[in-house]
Amino acid sequence: MTGGAGFIGSNFTRWVIDHTDASVVVLDKLTYAGNRDSLVGLPRDRVELVVGDVADASLVGDLVASVDAVVHFAAESHNDNSLADPQPFLMTNIVGTYTLLQAVREHDVRYHHISTDEVYGDLELDDPARFTEHTPYNPSSPYSSTKASSDLLVRAWVRSFGVQATLSNCSNNYGPYQHVEKFIPRQITNVLTGRRPKLYGAGQNVRDWIHVDDHNAAVWTILQKGAIGETYLIGADGEKSNREVVEEILRLLGQPEDAYDLVTDRPGHDLRYAIDSSKLRTELGWEPQYSSFHDGLAATIAWYEANEAWWKPAKDATENKYAATGQ
Ligand code: NAD
Ligand code: TYD
Repeated sequence: MTGGAGFIGSNFTRWVIDHTDASVVVLDKLTYAGNRDSLVGLPRDRVELVVGDVADASLVGDLVASVDAVVHFAAESHNDNSLADPQPFLMTNIVGTYTLLQAVREHDVRYHHISTDEVYGDLELDDPARFTEHTPYNPSSPYSSTKASSDLLVRAWVRSFGVQATLSNCSNNYGPYQHVEKFIPRQITNVLTGRRPKLYGAGQNVRDWIHVDDHNAAVWTILQKGAIGETYLIGADGEKSNREVVEEILRLLGQPEDAYDLVTDRPGHDLRYAIDSSKLRTELGWEPQYSSFHDGLAATIAWYEANEAWWKPAKDATENKYAATGQ
């Protein structure tokens, strides 16, 4: 798998070790978002970390030739960074995916592509509609447009070259090992370091939250049972406004629920995402296990409280970067 030192990939590695007999080779460049410590404690005879770039065709070719399946998580993943400097997003998300596709094509290896619901653009706040596998692509940001590009490459490689691939587009994940640049860990660690949570704009934007373990169980299900060439949307009916999430974090941390700041909005900020995951549920039998966002969030807060050594080194630099854009 790729990107296994990042947020979802490290949780996926842990999930696979805990729930299956498989071994995992992680290919990860260890960018600012990758952290060796996210893989600490995993059995060395079943998890190998190879440090390298998914756009390195020679390395990728050698690794792909030695595995039964590739799950591709590696990406530049943060919208705000993509607005500041899109270039690495094109290289990793588009050229990196192309490089992997050529390798799985050559070696005839099963491939699963991890993507995001952000490829569909956004929905109005009062629109009852949710994204389905038939929603037209309409990405807004450099990040989401490079993810959309990568999805289209996968579909073309399935149709043109018979690559054995499936795709999934998931909504916003939360859970342990998420970088402090992202919304939920940023607000938790703001409170834990004596800062106030920061809401972009008026805090009305809606995201559809899913626990990372539910995402990863869905990915494993698709890898085992998904139909080749098919796309599956992954979501857990977790729509909440950003303001609701911040208020819940503040309550859980014993603070007044209005102790946050409204800051400069993100340019082009998508209003709302919402996933209809009926296809995955009815065709492959997946169901989310985290039924309560409140409990999942409380467990995530407890993890950040207990693992300061993991996130503290990145906190000040991340906040300095945000301060430069008034966020
Ligand atoms: P992340 O930024 O936490 O981790 C990305 C990992 O990829 C890091 O370990 C990084 O070192 C590695 N990486 C980056 N460039 C690389 C390169 N060129 N070669 C090899 N490794 C490289 O991201 P995440 O939040 O874990 O997201 C993982 C995947 O899931 C991405 O494809 C993302 O688009 C998708 N996704 C994320 C979410 C979410 O809410 N976080 C939701 C839906 C889909
Ligand atoms: P983010 O975690 O960056 O995910 P995405 O942009 O992929 O949805 O942000 C989630 C939401 O939270 C999004 O609407 C932007 C907003 N946000 C804030 O309000 N404050 C913050 O400090 C951050 C990082 C994000």
